[in-house]
Amino acid sequence: MVTGPGVHSPAEGDPVTRQNDLELVVAVEPTVERLMAEHRERREHWYAHEYVPWEQGRSYIAEPWEESQASLSPEVRTSLVLNLLTEDNLPYYHAEIASHMPEGSALERWTHLWTAEEAQHSIALRSYLLTSRNCDPKALEDDRLATMEEGHHTGRNDIPALFVYTSAQELATRVSHRNAGVLADDEVAYRIMARIAADENHHFLFYRGVAAALLEQEPETMLEAVQRVFSNFTMPGTVIPGFVRRAVEMARAGVYNLRIHHDKVLLPLLRDWGIEHLTGLNVKAQELQEKVMAIPAQVMRKAEVFERRMGMASA
Ligand SMILES: [Fe+2]
Ligand SMILES: [Fe+2]
Repeated sequence: MVTGPGVHSPAEGDPVTRQNDLELVVAVEPTVERLMAEHRERREHWYAHEYVPWEQGRSYIAEPWEESQASLSPEVRTSLVLNLLTEDNLPYYHAEIASHMPEGSALERWTHLWTAEEAQHSIALRSYLLTSRNCDPKALEDDRLATMEEGHHTGRNDIPALFVYTSAQELATRVSHRNAGVLADDEVAYRIMARIAADENHHFLFYRGVAAALLEQEPETMLEAVQRVFSNFTMPGTVIPGFVRRAVEMARAGVYNLRIHHDKVLLPLLRDWGIEHLTGLNVKAQELQEKVMAIPAQVMRKAEVFERRMGMASA
């Protein structure tokens, strides 16, 4: 999805922000423990090797890749490759999130669990694409290298923004993986993408729950973070070569675009967090609440402009 530049936040290491973050982490520790227990209860572990069509695998030396071997449509292949390259950058997401989690905290344990689960997504997607010959293996590796050499810098250096962003990003990824699987019109691709999407959903439930607890603790701080993150939301793949071209292709195909972002991510999250109905706020928080509630309409206007430009029929 193309929605503008990155998000700005206080400078890294700002002592006041760091101290406030630590206090917030301690305050929501019981909620984190409960959500993590619920996650372990809910999530059924799965094995990528049971989903990958190994019987289709052939030597790329004896039989080099040609586009005619691909069975999926070009836009679905673009979507799966973009989603894979995004998953490949996990070390940077881990580093960013882990740097905020105090040693020995429940959030640190969660981050380890989350990282372990996330790592299977790229394993499954890459294995599927390579065995089914639905991507150019050389181009994929070149793009992975270029992506990971760029790294990933969001500038989000505070706990409130981190949890707002991860809530939205996990939900967005769930929607994107799921839609790509459905549009693939291929049983194996559908099953793999549905499985990954289910993981993203479980992660989303965790982050949304922690963000809700933070909102209860410090409404003004969280409203500021929601406003900051949602008014300028970008998916975490902007460093991928040809990101804009690929994201536009995905948007046109209906895998992920601004209208989907509005309907399936923004509105549900604002509703789940009860932003509109928060009461007892001070004047500054009330102003932030109004600004946040104005964001969906702004995103929808951008969606309509994009759709007109692309000659897409509005849903
Ligand atoms: Fe993932
Ligand atoms: Fe996830």
